[in-house]
Amino acid sequence: MSEHARYPLSMRLLHWLLALLVFSNFALAWLLEDEESLLAAHKMIGAWILLLAAARLANKLRLRKRLPASVNPAGSWSYWAEKLAHGLLYLCLLAEPLLGWLKTNAAGHGATLFPGFDLPALMEKNRHLSHWLGGMHEVMASLLALLIALHVAAAFWHWINGSGLGLARMLPMPGSKREI
Ligand code: HEM
Ligand code: HEM
Repeated sequence: MSEHARYPLSMRLLHWLLALLVFSNFALAWLLEDEESLLAAHKMIGAWILLLAAARLANKLRLRKRLPASVNPAGSWSYWAEKLAHGLLYLCLLAEPLLGWLKTNAAGHGATLFPGFDLPALMEKNRHLSHWLGGMHEVMASLLALLIALHVAAAFWHWINGSGLGLARMLPMPGSKREI
């Protein structure tokens, strides 16, 4: 593949690591209803998602001049739909764990990044806000799930109808060129 044909290695690794963590946290959230002891793990994985999503955004800005061109023709509706979907995915990746963190604090509880390192409380206990934030956390989770479904469908649509370019350039395996 030519230069800039693939995403930089750091972006590919962060993409798949975050995908794994997000899918795991949806699975944990689903199991939470019957097994409340999983909440600590859900909060911890969520905190890592927030941290890694911020690192991913900073890394993307750092590498913005070395990104491959869109698989969609510049200026077409699909080009702008892709930009919007990717922008919203980033927004949800940051906002969803932040809402969970705020909800937890408003309920009077804390969260841990790893054993021995607690996250600071962002707000005081507030029962009313806790319910509202919990609702927003649930709504944002549905939006994120919908975006991921559309995103995966678009990736496979390009794979089936195109040269397979989109998927190939996001796969995590190192290429022969110097990797970043
Ligand atoms: C991308 C990351 C996250 C995703 C996708 C996610 C998703 C979800 C989902 C789908 C639920 C079930 C919603 C419901 O039925 O009420 C849930 C519940 C919950 N999440 Fe998250 N979550 C994330 C991060 C976090 C974080 C970082 C925290 C706290 C530090 C957190 C705290 C909670 C709590 C406390 C509940 C129970 C809510 C309630 O009882 O109303 N979540 N989460
Ligand atoms: C939690 C799940 C996922 C999230 C949040 C996510 C998010 C993103 C984002 C924001 C981009 C744009 C590149 C960037 O700025 O980093 C991207 C690219 C991409 N994603 Fe995902 N993704 C997820 C899961 C998946 C899955 C399961 C697939 C596999 C089918 C996939 C396939 C791709 C492909 C092929 C690209 C490159 C598109 C291009 O050609 O430019 N993603 N993803």
